[in-house]
Amino acid sequence: MKKTKTNWLYSQIVKEHFLNPKNVLWDEKNYQADGKGMAGNPICGDVMMVCIKVDLKTQKIKDCKWRTYGCGAAIASTSMLSVMVTEKGGMTLKKALNLKPQEIIKRLGGLPVLKFHCSVLGQAALKEAINDYFKKQKRKK
Ligand code: FES
Repeated sequence: MKKTKTNWLYSQIVKEHFLNPKNVLWDEKNYQADGKGMAGNPICGDVMMVCIKVDLKTQKIKDCKWRTYGCGAAIASTSMLSVMVTEKGGMTLKKALNLKPQEIIKRLGGLPVLKFHCSVLGQAALKEAINDYFKKQKRKK
């Protein structure tokens, strides 16, 4: 078989986020989340947790941490997701709720089609975290 330089299926950006994931939640005990969400992937059974901190005034996400028992594509996707929702002063909760997995995949420079379902995991957990935040805010009133 002829060796090629293009055997790797993932983009350089995916590799970077997999090998050096951003915003991983290492110390759950001492992290004061405003909202916390869990999601499971029905296709592979993997699980993801996302925690957020929200600026009460602007309703923008000021911090986003996550942890997963998912695959490399899930790690890279959620790492990118955590960057996207916190960059440029943070994304509004409304915009974050409407974030599409395709937008994450685009920022990653693509994903193999068989790994598309992995990019949904972090986003599903983020939605749960935002809904958890809304529930907690309602209870405070
Ligand atoms: Fe389960 Fe990728 S195979 S999240």
